[in-house]
Amino acid sequence: MKNLFSYLFLFWFSLYCFIACTTSNIKNIRTDESALLAFKSLITSDPYGMLANNWSTSYSVCNWVGVSCDKKHNRVNSLNLTNMGLRGTLSPNLGNLSFLVKLVLSNNSFGGQLPKEIGWLRRLKVLSFDTNEFVGAIPPALGDLSHLQHLDLNTNHFSSFIPQSIYNLSKLEHLDCGHNSLEGTIPPMIGRLHQLNNLSLNDNKMSGLIPKEISNISLLETLYLSSNNFSGFPLSLILIIILIFYVI
Ligand SMILES: *[C@@H]1O[C@H](CO)[C@@H](O)[C@H](O)[C@H]1NC(C)=O
Ligand SMILES: *[C@@H]1O[C@H](CO)[C@@H](O)[C@H](O)[C@H]1NC(C)=O
Ligand SMILES: *[C@@H]1O[C@H](CO)[C@@H](O)[C@H](O)[C@H]1NC(C)=O
Ligand SMILES: *[C@@H]1O[C@H](CO)[C@@H](O)[C@H](O)[C@H]1NC(C)=O
Ligand SMILES: *[C@@H]1O[C@H](CO)[C@@H](O)[C@H](O)[C@H]1NC(C)=O
Ligand SMILES: *[C@@H]1O[C@H](CO)[C@@H](O)[C@H](O)[C@H]1NC(C)=O
Ligand SMILES: *[C@@H]1O[C@H](CO)[C@@H](O)[C@H](O)[C@H]1NC(C)=O
Repeated sequence: MKNLFSYLFLFWFSLYCFIACTTSNIKNIRTDESALLAFKSLITSDPYGMLANNWSTSYSVCNWVGVSCDKKHNRVNSLNLTNMGLRGTLSPNLGNLSFLVKLVLSNNSFGGQLPKEIGWLRRLKVLSFDTNEFVGAIPPALGDLSHLQHLDLNTNHFSSFIPQSIYNLSKLEHLDCGHNSLEGTIPPMIGRLHQLNNLSLNDNKMSGLIPKEISNISLLETLYLSSNNFSGFPLSLILIIILIFYVI
């Protein structure tokens, strides 16, 4: 009797494991595929037919143009659709690409607001949405991307303030929000971005004093703040401070 129970237990346990393991694997790669298909479904113009036939369920997503996979986990780790002339809005389902490290949509005509679900991409290191037609505020959820090193939102129509959460991204090396309609000031919290190499906020509607904490960023190499309404603390002084940091 005891034996029978152990056998039954073993049997159910193995069956449970088998189902749990196989379904979770299928779900993972299927999740990536359905996220990319949802993304494709909101593309309203694809003038060079880049995705039209190529992004087909007859092939593995890992062979789709602009998509790369991580060999170890067999999950999508990079989406790079630079210079493809694509027009449309971003599907919130992009947030399901949980192994994504690079998301690059540079030089297309994507518009609308950024979905807050992008903040779910916890492994993301590179986010480049430069030269598109995005509008509205930069979502505070971008501050959840704690591994982000490169954030490029240059040349869009972003408005309102840069969310404070951005200054929590302590690994950021490159922050480019130039050529938008951003308002507000640069907060002293900018000094928390110790890894920052490049900071571009040029051609916006920002104002106020440039905080002295900016001189705490010892790695800062490039600083573009022109064509805003900054006042007070002269820019030249900051550049001198940075130069002194360099010499030391
Ligand atoms: C999709 O494009 C990629 C890269 O250009 C290419 O390697 C692949 O063969 C294409 N797939 C199909 C089905 O056309
Ligand atoms: C994205 O793709 C373009 C052209 O296909 C390439 O020049 C660029 O280096 C890629 N960007 C990243 C971050 O991999
Ligand atoms: C932007 O993409 C278009 C194709 O849609 C291309 O003709 C143009 O050269 C690209 N611009 C840059 C700066 O690469
Ligand atoms: C993916 O994302 C969307 C929207 O964020 C959500 O509704 C959906 O349930 C998610 N999961 C899968 C497996 O697609
Ligand atoms: C920054 O991160 C800290 C700690 O993770 C968190 O408590 C705080 O709310 C964050 N600040 C913003 C503005 O998101
Ligand atoms: C910073 O800007 C310089 C010059 O503008 C450029 O050469 C360098 O690649 C940029 N660094 C990063 C991390 O993008
Ligand atoms: C930043 O610089 C200020 C002086 O400008 C200094 O008092 C402060 O200790 C520095 N903070 C850090 C974290 O280095």
